[in-house]
Amino acid sequence: MRVLLTGGAGYIGSHTALVLIERGHEVVLLDDFSNSSPEAVRRVEELTGARIPVIEADLADRSAAAAALEGVDFDAAIHFAGLKAVGESVVEPTRYYRVNIDSTLALLDLMRERGVTRLVFSSSATVYGDPEYVPVDEAHRAGVGLTNPYGWSKFMNEQIIRDAQAAWPRLGAVLLRYFNPVGAHPSGRIGEDPSGIPNNLMPFIAQVAVGKRERLSVFGDAYPTVDGTGVRDYIHVMDLAEGHAAALERIEAGVEVYNLGSGTGSSVLEVVRAFEEASGRPVPYAVAPARAGDVAEIAADPSRANARLRWRTTRSLADACRDAWTWQSANPDGYAA
Ligand code: UFG
Repeated sequence: MRVLLTGGAGYIGSHTALVLIERGHEVVLLDDFSNSSPEAVRRVEELTGARIPVIEADLADRSAAAAALEGVDFDAAIHFAGLKAVGESVVEPTRYYRVNIDSTLALLDLMRERGVTRLVFSSSATVYGDPEYVPVDEAHRAGVGLTNPYGWSKFMNEQIIRDAQAAWPRLGAVLLRYFNPVGAHPSGRIGEDPSGIPNNLMPFIAQVAVGKRERLSVFGDAYPTVDGTGVRDYIHVMDLAEGHAAALERIEAGVEVYNLGSGTGSSVLEVVRAFEEASGRPVPYAVAPARAGDVAEIAADPSRANARLRWRTTRSLADACRDAWTWQSANPDGYAA
């Protein structure tokens, strides 16, 4: 297939582009580089030997995006583009809703105009809110008690895609609810390159281990979990990228939703220890107050994706720490260097 990757230069997009090319697909990337780097694309080209067409445009600006995509044919789209910082979304809700919703609306209209019937959407486990049971399966209620506009925008986009599919039954859409993506390509050539202070745990730990930051703040140690710290389901970004390829290759008309996670929860302190082991470096930390909006524990029940997509995670948390460390130590300033 020829696949359009919106936000294709980002962390998950770049790893997915690589996996799709290795599986024999062609990719076209659309990105406005507001939170990504052309260097990531260059490195995917270097790793795969492919030449990757890149369209620089803001998808939320529908006329600009339509003009930029004129004459660019594609059979399917994977919609990664969007803003993703939870805390920032609370401070700038209108920007988050505008960018994250307008981009989806523009893409859906463009696909219908072009008769492109396959869509994969980057959703998030955040739509489950504070789960009633763990591990969560796809039947768990979604869109209840969400605590930030970022999370709402993911849930709203799921609903928008369902409504668009109901009005255009030929559309085949897959909503992928990611758990916590971590790690990097094992080459260390591509990885996660957060701008400023990392919001997420693994990139923060990696910057502590490499000496860029003094210590990790552990947000809360009194949750009802194994050691009192928050528990999440960390999924290696290469496993996640393979999940996109599996979903894309099995799309049928209708809407399907899949959890992409490992099925195993790890606490903050377990991640710290795994990273110390993988890197051979100490990761000093101090306990800080719990972060507003965080849940104690969430992990995926990935059995639906395992069965229907014939996909499962094959990489461990230790693998993710090793690969994140390879990336971080070879690229201490990310793509900027
Ligand atoms: N944490 C720390 N210190 C830090 C950063 C994180 O202790 O400096 C803790 C958090 O409290 C949490 C765990 O590490 O217990 C993971 O936090 P992340 O910020 O890495 O990830 P979240 O689970 O909060 O959020 C992630 C994605 C969101 C997505 C959500 C879905 O970043 O985009 O999963 O569950 F919405």
